[in-house]
Amino acid sequence: MIPKRDFLALPDLSTEELLNVLARAGRLKRGEERPTLAGKNLALVFRKSSTRTRVSFEVAMNQLQGHAVVISDRDSQLGRGEPLADTARVLSGYVDGIMIRTFAHSDVEELAHHASVPVINGLTDLLHPCQLLADLQTVQEEFGADLSGRTVAWIGDGNNMANSWINAAHRTGFDLRLACPEGYDPDAGILERARTSVDVVLTRDPAEAVSGADVVTTDVWASMGQEEEVELRAQAFDGFCVDGALMERAHPDAIFLHCLPAHRGEEVTTQVIDGPRSRVFQEAENRLHAQKALLVELLG
Ligand code: CP
Ligand code: NVA
Repeated sequence: MIPKRDFLALPDLSTEELLNVLARAGRLKRGEERPTLAGKNLALVFRKSSTRTRVSFEVAMNQLQGHAVVISDRDSQLGRGEPLADTARVLSGYVDGIMIRTFAHSDVEELAHHASVPVINGLTDLLHPCQLLADLQTVQEEFGADLSGRTVAWIGDGNNMANSWINAAHRTGFDLRLACPEGYDPDAGILERARTSVDVVLTRDPAEAVSGADVVTTDVWASMGQEEEVELRAQAFDGFCVDGALMERAHPDAIFLHCLPAHRGEEVTTQVIDGPRSRVFQEAENRLHAQKALLVELLG
C-alpha cells in the first residue's frame, strides 16, 4: 500500500515535487491539462474564518469533478469538543482528503496522525503552506521558473506567512531578508533549518531588507487569534508599513505581494497595494490553480 501523503508544511514536498506542483499549476491555469478527481471528496474544516481558502478549495474540487464538504466549529461537533483524533478517524471513513484551518499547528499534526487520508494544512498559527504555493507561482510568472538568485523581502510580523516564506526559500533557493520588530521574530527552528541551505537575513530595518529586492511582501500585524493585541502591535510595528518610499528602495522591477486580507494604511499603503507593482489579485487567483495541482498530487 502506498503511504498517504500529507501537506502540513512546504518541506513535506521535496524540491522536485514542489517545482512539479508549481509547473502543473501553470499548465492548469493556461488550460493545458485537464486532470480529474471524479468521485473524490475533500472535507474542509474551518476553525478560523476564511474567504480565499474556502472558496478556492471548494471550486478546485468542483473543477476537478470532485466534491468538497465544508464544516466549521459552528455547525459540527468539533465546536462542542469532540476530540480531533475521533474526528480524523470518522472523516477518514467518508472522504479522500481533509483540509483543516486551525490555531495550534500541533492540532493539524494530531489530525494527520489519526487520519488515514491525506491532510492539508489550510493555515495554522505557525504556517500557511497553501498560500506559498500561490505566492511562488506568482513570483515564477513574473521572473521565470528558476527562483534561485532572486531576493524576497518580508516586512513585519514573524508569523505563519513569514515562517512559510522561510520554508519556501529553503526548498527553492531564493535569498530571503526579513525585517521584524524585536519580539516578533519568526520561528527559530524553521529559520535554523533554512539557513543550512540558503541565505536568510533577519534585521530590524525594513529599508535594509528591501534594498534591491525582487519581491516585497508583508501581512497583517495582528493575525487571527491575536485580536486583543491589535493596539500593542500597532505600536510595535510603527515604521514597518510598506509605502511608496520603501518600494523605491527595491529593484525597479520589484513586485508587491500580500496573502490578503489586508489592512490598508497599516502594514501597506493604498498606493502600494493598489499600485502598478502589486500582484495581490493574481496571487489570490493562483490559490485556485496551485491547490488544484496540489490536490492532484495528493489525491490523484
Ligand atoms: N490568504 C488567505 O488564506 O485568505 P483567507 O483567510 O480568506 O482564506
Ligand atoms: N497571518 C494571517 C494570514 C491570514 C490569511 C492570519 O493568520 O490571520
